[in-house]
This record gives sequence, C-alpha cells and structure tokens, in this order.
Amino acid sequence: MAKVTIDGKSIEVPDGTTILNAARMIGGDIVPPAMCYYSKLKTSGGYCRTCLVKVAQGSAKDPRPMPKPVPSCRQTVMDGMVVENITSPEIVEARAGVVEFLLLNHPLDCPICDQAGECHLQDLGYEHGKMKTRYEFKRREFEKIDIGDKIKLHMTRCILCYRCVKVADQLCSCRNHGVMNRGDVAEISTYIENVVDKDMSGNMIDVCPVGALTDKTFRFKSRVWFTKPVDAHRTCDKCCGKVRLWYKGEEVLRVTARKDKYGEVEDWICNSCRFDHKKTSDWVIEGASHIDHHSVISANHYETGKALENLKSDIERHQKQLKENKFALGQGAMNPNNV
Ligand code: SF4
Ligand code: SF4
Ligand code: FES
Repeated sequence: MAKVTIDGKSIEVPDGTTILNAARMIGGDIVPPAMCYYSKLKTSGGYCRTCLVKVAQGSAKDPRPMPKPVPSCRQTVMDGMVVENITSPEIVEARAGVVEFLLLNHPLDCPICDQAGECHLQDLGYEHGKMKTRYEFKRREFEKIDIGDKIKLHMTRCILCYRCVKVADQLCSCRNHGVMNRGDVAEISTYIENVVDKDMSGNMIDVCPVGALTDKTFRFKSRVWFTKPVDAHRTCDKCCGKVRLWYKGEEVLRVTARKDKYGEVEDWICNSCRFDHKKTSDWVIEGASHIDHHSVISANHYETGKALENLKSDIERHQKQLKENKFALGQGAMNPNNV
C-alpha cells in the first residue's frame, strides 16, 4: 500500500494506482479532469494533458519534487507522495494552457453541437477558457464523414483522445478506423471511408468526450437539457441491456449507456439496444436517472422535479389518511358507548 496526499487530503491506495485514480477514491473538487483516460479502456490516457498535476514530493524515501507537471492518469503513486492539483496556481495555469491548445482548432459550435450540455471540453472552456483566441492561423477544416448509417464524424471537433480507437480495438470484432497521419494533419478516419457497423461500435459515441462522433438518429433533435433521462433495461443476448433512455415528452429520442459521475460508461451496450429499440414498450423502466455532473443537464433540476412529485403524492396520501382518521374519530364521537 502507498500513502498519497492530494491537495492536503491523504489516502492509502494499492501500489500501482495512478494519481488520478487515487484522487477519484478521495473524490470531490480535487479530482483532475480527464479527456482521454477511460478506466474501462486499456492503454487509454496520456494523450490530452488535461489531468496534469504537480508532484511536490516524490515519495517518503526521496522527497524531491518532480521537475515538471505530470499527467496524473499515467503517473503511479509512491508511498509518501505529495500532489498538488487545484491548490497549485502553476497547475491551474498549465491546465488553462492545455485548454487553449485543445481549442486552437476547435469550432465555436456549442449552440448547434449535440454534445453541448454534456461536453467536458465545454466545461473546461467555461472554467479555464479565454475570451479570445491568440491563434493567428487558419483552423483545420474537414468534411463531415458518415461512418456507417448510424454515426457521423465531425473531425473539426475531435481532440484526438484516441478513446474511439480503443473502443474499436477492444470491443469490436475488427477495427477499420483509426488515427491517420500525425501532427497537424492527424485525423480520425476509416480505411477508405469504410463502414463502422460492428455490434458494439455505437459505444464510440458514448466515449467521445466532445461532439466529434454523433448519433445520427439523435442529431439536432433536441438540446440535451430539454430531455429527461430515465434508466431502463431489457433482456439482450449481446450486452447487459442496461441503458439510459432520453425522453422528450412521450418519445425516446436516444438510447445511451449509463454513465458514472466521471462521464464514463458503466456497462457497454450493443447497437441493437442503442439504435433499434426506441419504444417505451421495449424496456422495463427503472426510474429517473441520477445525473451526477455539474453540467446543464443536472441544472434543470430534473431529479428535484421528480422528488417534488413524490413529495406531492406523499402529502396527498397523508391528507387523505388524515381525512379518513378524522371521519373515524367523528364517527367514534357519535358512538354513545364512547361518551
Ligand atoms: S464539442 Fe463541446 S466544446 Fe465543442 S462545439 Fe461541441 S459542445 Fe462545444
Ligand atoms: S472522435 Fe472523439 S473519441 Fe475519437 S479521437 Fe476524436 S475526440 Fe476522441
Ligand atoms: S486524461 Fe491524462 S493525459 Fe488525458
């Protein structure tokens, strides 16, 4: 076991745990943001640098600080390590720099982007972004590509986090897309615009931290904060069948996997559950989803609304009970035996 202190909070974690996962075990504001690391995808992390932290003390044995910020998703803890994240002005500034780099070529698409409201880049932009870009060159431009009949790629929004590539590698039967070229001309593409239609390929949409891979059955149908997320399940022979249905009125606009508080999928779902079952009758409804994220979806107080509804029905039930009791008391008072 190794004891690590992050922003003044200490925890003992198994050897080999990364700083990011140790921070997640502590929880709260000290958890660094992660745009490329995904705990369910092997070898993810190390691409985006949003998770940078300062190691102020390497270990109990060798207390020297590390000379420069380290990606917390890749650096493992050592016994006696002291880490600074939000308590280090240097790191906050470095993160703002990383966000500026991520936004260098990124279009100002939020008003029309399907990811808006559940986009980690949008959240980072609000937190660290600058009012104006300092970039003087032409932004990268790409045609939108259909990769299969269900997924559309907006390469201009891609931050090259490699998550979708890992999904293709680790979940799909064969991979026919990846990152082509390198540096300024790197892009996600398929081999000669091949179709991505493997059973689990829809999970690429869920892992994409931005609006680069979009669900063609949901595109432009609604802002996400106007939809109501509901947990549901069905018996499926290809996946766990546990999903989140996103309702607008009576209509299921999209089906996604359920995500945890770090925006990571809890269980992968198959394309059949995602794209072919959009009727309420296809599902067993479990109840309102808990959206544990500081994004606009939780700002619509959906759950609070549900809680209020429950409260209202509780009050009505109690009032009814009171009325019945009063009636019984009244009847009792009229009973001559009780006088
Ligand atoms: S990917 Fe995120 S930051 Fe980029 S346009 Fe879409 S919502 Fe905005
Ligand atoms: S398309 Fe999305 S998931 Fe794939 S590399 Fe780009 S940002 Fe990451
Ligand atoms: S989350 Fe660590 S480098 Fe991207």
